[in-house]
Order: sequence, then structure tokens, then C-alpha cells
Amino acid sequence: MIVSASSVEEQFRAMFERVCVTGGAGFIGSHLVDGLRRAGATVVVLDDLSTGRRENLAHHADGVDFVEGSIGDATAREDAVAGCDLVMHLASRVSVAESMSEPELYRRVVGTGTREMLESAVAAGARRLVLAGSCSVYGDAPPPISEATTPAPASPYAEAKLVAESHCRAFAEAGRIATICPRFFNVYGPRQRADSPYSGVIAIFAALAARGETPVIFGDGRQTRDFIHVEDVVRGLMLAAMATDTHGGEAVNFGTGRGTDLLELARVLRAGPPRFEAARDGDIRHSVADPGRAARLLGFETEIDLATGLSSIGHRPTS
Ligand SMILES: NC(=O)c1ccc[n+]([C@@H]2O[C@H](COP(=O)([O-])OP(=O)(O)OC[C@H]3O[C@@H](n4cnc5c(N)ncnc54)[C@H](O)[C@@H]3O)[C@@H](O)[C@H]2O)c1
Repeated sequence: MIVSASSVEEQFRAMFERVCVTGGAGFIGSHLVDGLRRAGATVVVLDDLSTGRRENLAHHADGVDFVEGSIGDATAREDAVAGCDLVMHLASRVSVAESMSEPELYRRVVGTGTREMLESAVAAGARRLVLAGSCSVYGDAPPPISEATTPAPASPYAEAKLVAESHCRAFAEAGRIATICPRFFNVYGPRQRADSPYSGVIAIFAALAARGETPVIFGDGRQTRDFIHVEDVVRGLMLAAMATDTHGGEAVNFGTGRGTDLLELARVLRAGPPRFEAARDGDIRHSVADPGRAARLLGFETEIDLATGLSSIGHRPTS
């Protein structure tokens, strides 16, 4: 049975009061904060503002405390998780390309940072931690990709996400804290930055289209991605936090099950004829989720199709 956003928020209110969101000033994290506030939770954001922005939370007059600091800083972590019954752990370096040149940074922030976050959550008495995982752990597996697919990470980012998941499983298996690891496919929506080469492709193409500029496609443009709207991800994260019989660190795909290739995306966004450059190391050819487990375990199915989702960032797609 699929659960609507308003009934998710109602159920959530009955389960959690105070929630720590790491990375809550970022793109997905700030939308999650909005959802948690609609559900009546008090939220504490822990963010070092390396890619996040305070403006993303400026519309919250109250109910959101902000701890500016790194997940690598024990004092900042303790401040942020104090009194929280749930931790939504989204803080991360987020770029496959950057991880190729700075692998140690990714091991530290994404791998070690998750273990330290788990330790702090346990020490504070939190009941659950939800990790923002990534479909990148599957590497170039043939779609549709289910969670039974053997991971084959092709970048330090993906390797570190896999390590982060293994910490979540180990803590759950040791009975220290319940955990679950949604693996996001390609998330898009309002507030996604377009000013970084590391951003999501929709944000970059949309910004170029608005300026009448030519998009660059790495490779032949036939690579496919499974684009999931951020509001669907927020609902899925809240369902993941609430699920009662799935907190042993399970991986759960968050995707739509539909692939769109980049040539089609450029056409729909009216981004003009693309310029092609060589494919980049670590780039994945096809990435489309089998979303069946999320539906079975969490009652989570996406509701926002690409055309509707693109209108949320100000685009009226062609047919
Ligand atoms: N956007 C996607 O398509 C996508 C896909 C798969 C997984 N994810 C995961 O979702 C999460 C959120 O990503 P996003 O797209 O919103 O990116 P984002 O860059 O907007 O958010 C990441 C946030 O983490 C913060 N941060 C980074 N390092 C930190 C540190 N050491 N301490 C505290 N805060 C830190 C940043 O300032 C930022 O606010 C990440 O874990 C990312 O790996 C995103």
C-alpha cells in the first residue's frame, strides 16, 4: 500500500520528536528539514556549509536549531545529537569526479565520518539512524538494478558509501542502534546547485538552457539515469525512519525504475545541441533502479514523474 505525504507526516509525529539532520543545509537535507517540520518534529541541523547554504533553511523561523561544524568534530556531533531520538545522516562530500582526485577526503568524511556519527548517536541514546546511501555502489551493473546486485564501486565516493553502509550494518547487528541505508539514484528538484561542475545534471542543464547556452555531455549521451524528485526522496526517508521490521542496516533503492538518457534530457529541457567530450573516469553507463524492495518493505513508491518534477524547477518540458 502506498502512503501519502500527509499521512506519513502524521505517523511520523507519533514516533519522533527531535531529529538531527546532518547535511541539513544542503539540497536534499533542507527539503528533509521542511518535511520534518511539517510533521511537527524539532530539528537540529549539523552542517559545515562546505556545499550547503544557510539560505536553504532561512524560511524556518523556529523549530530548527543550527550547529555549524563538521561531522568530524566530536563536540559539534555531541551538540547536534543531544536529545535526538533519530539521526538522518546526509552530510557527505558528494562528487564522484572530486573523489577521484581526493580519495582520502572521501574515506574520512564519508566512511569514518559515518562511523563517528553512529558512535555519537548511540552515546546520545538515539534509537535510529538513516544513512543517505548512493546507487553509485552498484558501478556499471545492468539495469534494472536490485539490491541483490553485487556492489562494484567504481570510484572512491562509491567505495566510501559502501564502507558507510557496512558501519551501519555492524552497529545494527551489534544491537547498538537500528539503521537503514536508502540508496538514492539521481535526485533533482528546487535548491539543487547549478554553480558547481559536481552538481546534478538536471540542475546544470536547466541553468544552461535558461541562459541559452550549450550543455556539455561526457560520452555519447546515451547513458541513462533514474531521476527521482527530492520530494519523493523526503517521503521515502521518513518512511525508512518509521519502518519497524527493517533496521538491520538494509540497503533500499530509492529510484523510479525509469531511465532517461542525457540526449533526451537535453531535448526535454530545450538545452540546445550538446557539445560532446570524452567520458570521465568513474562515470557509469546505465543506472536505473529496481524499486521493488522499497515498495515491499517501506510502502514507498515515487509519485512525481519527470515532466511534473521539472516544472517544480521552473521548466515546461516539451512532449
Ligand atoms: N543528489 C543526488 O543525486 C544524490 C545521489 C545519491 C546520494 N546522495 C547523497 O545524499 C546526501 C545529500 O546530498 P545532496 O545532493 O543534498 O548534496 P549537498 O552537497 O547539497 O548536501 C551535502 C551537505 O553535507 C554538508 N557537509 C559536507 N561535508 C560535511 C561535513 N564534514 N560535516 C558536516 N556537513 C558536511 C554540506 O555542506 C551540504 O550541506 C549525500 O549524502 C549524498 O551523498 C545524493
